[in-house]
Formats: sequence, structure tokens, C-alpha cells
Amino acid sequence: MHAHVILAAGQGTRMRSRLPKVLHPLLGKPMLAYAVETALALNPAKLVVVVGHGKEKVLEALEGYPVEVAFQKEQLGTAHALLQAEPFLKDFPGPTLVTQGDTPLLSPSTLGGLLERVGEGAGMALLTVELSDPTGYGRILRQGEEVLGSVEEKDATPEVRAIREVNAGAYAFDPFLFRALKEVRNENAAREYYLPDLIAIYRAHGKRVAAVRGAAEEALGVNTREELARVEGILLARLRAEWMRRGVRMILPESVYLEPSVELAPDVTLWPGVVLKGKTRIGEGAEVGPYALLEDTVLEPGARVLGHTVAQGAVIAGGADAGPFARLRPGAVLREGVHVGNFVEVKNSLLHPGVKAGHLAYLGDAEVGEGANIGAGVITANYDGKRKHRTWIGKGAFIGSNAVLVAPVRVGDGAMVGAGSVITQDVPEEALAVARGRQRNLEGYARRKREGE
Ligand code: UD1
Ligand code: CA
Repeated sequence: MHAHVILAAGQGTRMRSRLPKVLHPLLGKPMLAYAVETALALNPAKLVVVVGHGKEKVLEALEGYPVEVAFQKEQLGTAHALLQAEPFLKDFPGPTLVTQGDTPLLSPSTLGGLLERVGEGAGMALLTVELSDPTGYGRILRQGEEVLGSVEEKDATPEVRAIREVNAGAYAFDPFLFRALKEVRNENAAREYYLPDLIAIYRAHGKRVAAVRGAAEEALGVNTREELARVEGILLARLRAEWMRRGVRMILPESVYLEPSVELAPDVTLWPGVVLKGKTRIGEGAEVGPYALLEDTVLEPGARVLGHTVAQGAVIAGGADAGPFARLRPGAVLREGVHVGNFVEVKNSLLHPGVKAGHLAYLGDAEVGEGANIGAGVITANYDGKRKHRTWIGKGAFIGSNAVLVAPVRVGDGAMVGAGSVITQDVPEEALAVARGRQRNLEGYARRKREGE
């Protein structure tokens, strides 16, 4: 049985952002959520998150997670941050894991390794990694197998800076932790209370400090935008590789962006530049064309989305297709065999099987019957300035180009609407509605005008 504390109170000055650092998203999820989920994977008896900078927003991001929250009013350093968790853990009898909210690639098994070392009698265990460029990290001082300390870059001499073994910012402690924390002083370049000073303090109390070596990638801390991008790139590469192993075809995979919440089936094809977000689900054999963006959208098996389409909250059935350049908004449902072409926008509308809307139309708050044909430029005028109204278009109806259907209005099954009509009254089944100025031809008028008669 162990406890876990995540430090997440810092501002993250080096990000140069109004957003607290731990809330910067990685694949659509705040960085802090990765640290929390890794911690939860080990079933801690207690999980305390230390928050401070941007507290309200950070608390929002923690909603729904079984965590307790400690508050660090002033950011006086990592040891001071950890001390704020004391009221929650004072009499906790087991070991405590400590990680940082800005280190999202740590794995549960690595943290488990730290706990084991404390279980085997070490007073404290910390994760170290070897980096080709150790800039910004605490450097590990060793004497053979023994770890003597970790020196922050600001305090390091050039010789110490040359050390490439660094502190990854993940630790396990025995219950001596909170007594040791009180001995930390801030006599250093940053005038901060440094958590790594616990190494020397534990040793001074005759306790063994164990260093566990990990893989460099896991230790990546995010302090700058560049590091954020690097970590996101690693997460993305892992995700893409996993989906390809499960049978997804990606053309130019490095150009595909997708979030962990997305679900894909075997034989899905993703063309270059595809962006898949939120609860998007793509069924077997479906295809997404170049530079399409799908968010919270379902593609049933065999559906096709062509290039540059943007779909949010839409459902596309097998044998239906949308795009190129289609815009599907929440509640757009395209049943089997529907075709929605370029510059067609569909919102909160059900298109029954076989509906065709090939170009330049707006269908909002509409239900379109099986096999109906929607001409270019057709618009459902669903908004009267105050309220939204519905449009019903019957089975097999034919709506001519540039017709405006002023809702609420109903076009019956098999009816036709003449091009350019403004329809304000229901159209009966099988009828033709024409609602536009009648054409007049004035013989010879153009010639007379030209010749200045
Ligand atoms: C820290 C370590 C460094 C290690 C590196 C690994 C210290 C002094 N240094 O440096 O040895 O190599 O992590 O990534 O611990 N925080 C608070 N309150 C504070 C200060 C920080 O909650 O007063 C939190 C931050 O939100 C962050 C974490 O602690 O999540 C680490 O702080 P940061 O300033 O990023 O430390 P580093 O300079 O990266
Ligand atoms: Ca950091």
C-alpha cells in the first residue's frame, strides 16, 4: 500500500503562456492528466495533487479523478510543494511516490520499480536517466553505485554540468519523508527549497538512497514549447504505430494526427494530413481523404470522407460519402448511399438512404427522405432571427437549384421544386412548386438599347 503525490503548482514561466503549464494539452488531454492516470494505474491508497498557479483551471482538469488536492500558495520550490501534502499523509504508514505534473511519459512499471527499492530497505529511490543533452536537468553525483546528490543546473560547476546522468524527477520515499523535508534549506542560486536535497538529508540520517536507471524518453520533462512538441510527437508516434499494428493503413503516417480517444478498425485508410479528434470512431474499410478533420464523428464500415472535409458530431453510414470540402456539423446523419459533395453544409439533419446533395447547399434542421435530390445552391432557411424551424423533404423529391425552403415547411414525397423558388408553403406529394418571377422576353430590346435608339 503506497501513497502518491504529484507536484503541479508551478507556473511554467518558460512556456510563455497564460495557461498553467500542466494544463497544456498533449493530444487533446492536459499534460497533468497523463501524470494522474499513470499514478492511478498503480492503485495508490491516496493520491494528492499539489496545485497553486492557475488553481481554478487546474481543479477543473482534475474533476472526475479520485484525487485529493493540496494548495501551495507561493511557489517556493519542489520540496516546499511536497510539504503542502503533509496534512493528507502525516500518519500514512507506507511508502510515498512523488512525481511531477510536467513529466507525462513516465510509465507505471518504472514507478513500481522505485517502490520496490524502498520495499527492499532503501530510504529513498529516485529515477535517473542518461541524456545526450542534459541541459536543464539536475545532474547526479555518484561514488560508484552510491548516489551522493543531484545538483541543479544553476548551482552546477562546469564539471558537474558535463555529467549526463540526470534526475528524472520521480521518487519513492519511506515514511521518514516529512521529517526529512523540514531539514531542506533554500541556500542556493534560485533561493528555492529543492526536493533533490533530500538525497543528502536521507544519507545524513544513515539511510540508503537507491538510483534506478530508466529509459531517456520516459524522463522527458516539459518546460518549453519545444519540449511539449517533442513529447507530443512521441505520444503520436506510439499511437500511430499501435493502430498500424492493428491493421490501419496510413499513407505518410508522420502527417496523421489522432488522439488517444479515437477508435479505428482494421483496413481503415487514412490519407496524408488527416486529423482525428475526440470520440471519433472509424469502422472497417472506411477511408478518410487528405486533410480531412473529424471530431466526435462516426464512420460506419465502408463510409468514405473525401479530402478537406470537416466533420464534427456527424454519423456517416457505409456506402455514403462526404466531400471533398464538405462541412458536417453536430447532428448530421448520412445514411447508406448518401452523397454530400463539395461546399455542402449539413447540420442537425437526417439524410435518408440515397439522398444526393452534390454541391453548394445548406441543410440545417432538416429531414430528407430516401432518394431525394438536392440541387446546387439549395438552402433551408431554418432561422427567422429568433428561432430555428424544421424542414421536411419527402422521399424522391427533387429540389431545383438555388431554391430556398423557408422553414417550417414540408415538401411532399415525389414533389418537385423549380429552380430559384422561394418556398414558404408546404408542397403536396407529387406536385411541382414554382415560386419565382415569371420570365418575360422583350423581342429586340437588347439590340435597340445597344444602338442607342
Ligand atoms: C526538476 C528538478 C530537477 C529534475 C527535473 C526533472 C528540482 C529542484 N529540480 O527541475 O532536478 O532534473 O525536475 O524534470 O526539483 N512545482 C511546484 N511548486 C514549486 C515548484 C515546482 O509544484 O514551487 C512543480 C511544477 O509544477 C512542476 C514540478 O514541480 O510540475 C517541477 O518543477 P520545475 O520548475 O519544472 O522543475 P525543473 O526545473 O524541471
Ligand atoms: Ca520541469
